[in-house]
Amino acid sequence: MSISRRDFITSAAMTSLAVGLRAQESSSSAPAQSSPSQTRTVSGTGSGRSKPPILISSANGWNGSDKGYQMLKDGKDTLDAAIAVGKTQEDDPNDMSVGLGGLPNEEGVVELDSCCMHGPTRRAGSVGAVRNIKNVALLGQAVMQHTGHVMLVGEGAEKFGYAMGFPKENLLTERAHQIWLMWKESNSNEDWWGPGLDDPNYHVPGEGGEQATVNTEEMWELQRQRLYDLAERLHVEPEWREFAVNAVLYPPHGTIHVSVLNEKNEMSGMTTTSGLAWKIPGRCGDSPIIGAGNYCDQDVGSAGATGSGEENIRVAGAHTIVENMRHGMSPQEAGFDTLKRIARNFNNDMNKLRYVDMEFYILRKDGAYAGVSMWSGAPGRPRHFCVHDGSKRLEPCISLYQGAALDYPPHSRMRSRAAAK
Ligand code: GLY
Repeated sequence: MSISRRDFITSAAMTSLAVGLRAQESSSSAPAQSSPSQTRTVSGTGSGRSKPPILISSANGWNGSDKGYQMLKDGKDTLDAAIAVGKTQEDDPNDMSVGLGGLPNEEGVVELDSCCMHGPTRRAGSVGAVRNIKNVALLGQAVMQHTGHVMLVGEGAEKFGYAMGFPKENLLTERAHQIWLMWKESNSNEDWWGPGLDDPNYHVPGEGGEQATVNTEEMWELQRQRLYDLAERLHVEPEWREFAVNAVLYPPHGTIHVSVLNEKNEMSGMTTTSGLAWKIPGRCGDSPIIGAGNYCDQDVGSAGATGSGEENIRVAGAHTIVENMRHGMSPQEAGFDTLKRIARNFNNDMNKLRYVDMEFYILRKDGAYAGVSMWSGAPGRPRHFCVHDGSKRLEPCISLYQGAALDYPPHSRMRSRAAAK
């Protein structure tokens, strides 16, 4: 079935809270970006206190956390342990949120961001908008270890990587390329991508379109079905089509953060990402920003983030959390205060905040930890994070607001209708 991009614009008006819930179930949570069929049990309270070693991470740290935990047990460096968890996902082409297989920018080019902090030496390293190098967490560590700088970006970071022996690799997998093509073809009405006037199924918006005959929910189903059809036509594997459709409609941020504490009370933290899907080339979110995507002071604790990078940068989230704990707050209190600062930046306007997806992962030097989120998640699918203290588990994030965030962006016709009311 051919698809008119104009059909998408016409029918893109269709959304509702139910729609947001449905999409959120599969589009934004970290595991869904790494394995479309994966479901794991989430249990516990979202905060606690463990004896070191302990490792906490975003949920997509699950696969690598056994290795990271073992490295802590074996007395390996704390940052090496944290990076080992991130590297597991960077190397995995099925994780479309980081490294190889990450979703690309609007030009179809994968650009990666990462930063790290090493508690014992109080050093930091960071890279932003790096192309063609898969293991940017290690590259950030190399900036820390082998330069007098803290942050390198773009071409300079890439050249530095080659000088340090990092291999040049094509990071755009066939699957990520197919999903980018879906986005390109379906989401634009201002260029020549996608079927045009000569397409047999093209019809002028408003003339004999579906809007007159079907209700909002049916239009939404039609729109999603068209995207599924497009996914099939572009040969996206069947088990990835749900992910692909959601990624086209609601560009994910996908990221992995890891914070660790060892038996010597040493701490480190690391964050790595392919950033916001379909971003403007050169865009960096919070993940390469020391103090936003990641901050560690082993006198106090370590914290990191996934979610809306732009919102997190505006509150220097990870640094704010560590400073809150320095002044006596628990991990949960420190995280909630930071989420409230994001809410304050929107004057607590829930019409906007319902689109803000934000999670913080927090570990204090005494082994107290918490995962906090702006929204609790869809029914039966709570926001969650990974804890490994000898027992590996997923715990639900403690959330500021109940319910699921709506996936961003809201469709333009919905916005104009809302404005007209
Ligand atoms: N939090 C990841 C990003 O916004 O790029």
